[in-house]
Amino acid sequence: MSKVLVTGGTGYIGSHTVVELINEGFEVVIVDNLSNSNVEVLNGIEKITGVRPAFENIDCVDYVAMDNMIDKYGNIDAVIHFAASKAVGESVEKPLLYYRNNLVSLINLLQLMPVHKIKHFVFSSSCTVYGQPDILPVTENAPIKPALSPYGNTKQIGEEIIRDTIYANTNNYQSIILRYFNPIGAHVSAEIGELPNGVPNNLLPFVTQTAIGIRKQLQVFGNDYDTPDGSCIRDYIHVVDLAKAHVVAVRRMLEGKSKDSLEVFNLGTGRGLSVLEIIKTFEEVNQVKVPYKIVNRREGDIEKVWADPTYANEVLGWKAQETVEETLRSAWAWELNLANRKN
Ligand code: UD1
Repeated sequence: MSKVLVTGGTGYIGSHTVVELINEGFEVVIVDNLSNSNVEVLNGIEKITGVRPAFENIDCVDYVAMDNMIDKYGNIDAVIHFAASKAVGESVEKPLLYYRNNLVSLINLLQLMPVHKIKHFVFSSSCTVYGQPDILPVTENAPIKPALSPYGNTKQIGEEIIRDTIYANTNNYQSIILRYFNPIGAHVSAEIGELPNGVPNNLLPFVTQTAIGIRKQLQVFGNDYDTPDGSCIRDYIHVVDLAKAHVVAVRRMLEGKSKDSLEVFNLGTGRGLSVLEIIKTFEEVNQVKVPYKIVNRREGDIEKVWADPTYANEVLGWKAQETVEETLRSAWAWELNLANRKN
């Protein structure tokens, strides 16, 4: 049984990936400092899979603690590195926090891997590296645009650090960089899902919290963009589809199928949807109202971006399967389940 170290494994994408890994027969060790997640997520993972993964409350920035932890578990075959801070606005206010959290943790892992003879590394990157692409849908070959925030910059620099490290030590490393579009939704069991801390920054948790009455009104950031209905367009992908791509990526490396020591894939559906389309579809499929008003544009927002997932579809052999309707149903089921737990 192959053993995978998952940093940030109690987070939103991390927890869904842990479930898919366990379902596919992997042994998982989670490392998370719980800075933006809850240890109870382990209960959800156990309910779904019947397995409680090993968990260590460690900050990846702590080299010595990470070194000791990897020693303790031994024989780790691959690392999936989710652990990172991801609030764009906060990163503008606290840039050093973001550079430290996101880059020192990455450097620590890359340094520790050869020490412990771990070769395979999956990195969580983002379509944010493309900025506003000149050509849509966007392929992996599109140019990287200057980052609009320290957060975005950590993803760009992170990719460069991985690239330089691998090309200097081709025998020691093999990596797959995954550029996520907009993950939404929750596991079909509604046992795990997105758990934002405080007021959500992202669209879907704000939509579900408004629908259930935690928030009075959703603000739609701008309806004067150059899009059919004036609101921004994104490629929303079911988080479980995204999670499954990580299992495929790990397998690909372990089975020696990679074409190069570093590969980069877009993880999206190829379908662009506007903010207003998301709200309308959410209301229709869940039979619930989402009160909203149009407000000014949000600074730094990209007008429109959606993926060309052809390369991932053909080379990785992975394809997003879920419809947006099903995805929005799962997001609502999760919010309802959360409300039940509190009552
Ligand atoms: C944002 C980040 C992106 C990051 C990702 C991580 C920005 C500009 N981009 O992506 O770099 O990788 O989060 O999670 O912050 N919207 C509303 N009302 C809301 C919230 C969002 O109208 O209350 C709109 C936004 O204007 C946008 C869309 O919904 O058009 C999606 O927003 P969001 O979920 O924050 O994702 P991104 O902006 O794509």
